[in-house]
Amino acid sequence: MAGTAPLPPFAAIVVAAGKGVRAGQNLPKQFAEWQGKPVLRHSVEALASAGARPLVVAIPQDADELVWDMLRGIDGVELVIGGSTRRASVCMALEQLESSSPNRVLIHDAARPDLPQEVIERLVSALTVHHAAIPVLPVADSLALADGELMGGSADRDALRRVQTPQAFRFAEILAAHREWSGERAAGDDAQVLRAAGGSVALVLGDERLAKLTFAEDFLEAQTTTQPMVRTGMGYDVHRLVTGEELWLGGVHVDHNKGLTGHSDADVALHAIVDALLGAIAAGDIGEHFPPSDPQWRGARSARFIEYAAELINKANYTIGNVDLTIICEAPKIGPHRTAMREAIARMLGCELAQISVKATTTERLGFTGRGEGIAAQAIVTLQRL
Ligand code: CTP
Ligand code: MG
Repeated sequence: MAGTAPLPPFAAIVVAAGKGVRAGQNLPKQFAEWQGKPVLRHSVEALASAGARPLVVAIPQDADELVWDMLRGIDGVELVIGGSTRRASVCMALEQLESSSPNRVLIHDAARPDLPQEVIERLVSALTVHHAAIPVLPVADSLALADGELMGGSADRDALRRVQTPQAFRFAEILAAHREWSGERAAGDDAQVLRAAGGSVALVLGDERLAKLTFAEDFLEAQTTTQPMVRTGMGYDVHRLVTGEELWLGGVHVDHNKGLTGHSDADVALHAIVDALLGAIAAGDIGEHFPPSDPQWRGARSARFIEYAAELINKANYTIGNVDLTIICEAPKIGPHRTAMREAIARMLGCELAQISVKATTTERLGFTGRGEGIAAQAIVTLQRL
């Protein structure tokens, strides 16, 4: 909104208490991931950054924890449990908002995550002259009336508009209209409720981006357009060599006069690979998933960390392209163990041997690796989108 006059204050309601059955996601569609964030977060952020305060979100029973987590850091949010229909959810939110007595309110479907700031501006500005305003789009296709399987007539598309949300109202009027509503329990939208109470509703220009996410395809498209075909990640780790420890490297037990000490079995090579895998999907690092302070990981086999990271990659819709590992040490010699390490890593990741490379280098007796004080490892992985 740079350069334009600030908008007059307004509150907002986001209805997110539906089941989203048609979208067939693992969770209700408004909580599913879309373009890198939960659908609901997109909708709430758009309203919050346009200045909506307070911002009441109607949610299903028992979803508070999930929703607070999803909306972390957004100011002015209040939650209310919604009802069994969209209209019931709107009513709950309006009643909750009454204590803040806002002048204006925008009521929005969480399931319309791509909300342009210009639409909000058009709606709020329209409220200075009109009692209510809704965003609409023209109909481009010709329209038919259906009589069962047959065409029963045609409709004049020039007289029709596609209605979107947010819908903007004077707060007291929409609250009164909802309280008065005696029509069907599940009214089509809030503008319809206001009209039934005798209010008039202005039309402003909507936006194709505001399309409501309804079916599974609406999510697929967003996932494939935002997820790159190939991702890469890198990992680096160092552990100290001490006497009296076993040496585990690349998932293989290696006979040596010293072993690595540290987190879990201290398999520095596997740790570098885990970090590369997590890095490729921007999922943090090994310490975040398996804190060294947590006693359950003391002495744990690093294979578990690898398998866990591989699972995350699968969930993120990727498969491993290749892994390239470099072990940096003066001793032991890695050559004799290379094939065993490649086989072990391939097994943990469910890959072919050809996808896994294990290399080794010394540092010409320089530095801590050269002095045999520790072993370092670095890894690079590429992932391919499924
Ligand atoms: N909604 C709500 N409370 C309900 C029903 C719907 O808050 N009891 C919200 C939805 O979460 C959504 C918006 O109203 O943000 C529009 O409804 P719709 O697209 O129909 O969503 P669902 O009812 O969840 O989906 P479906 O009809 O496919 O089950
Ligand atoms: Mg519905």
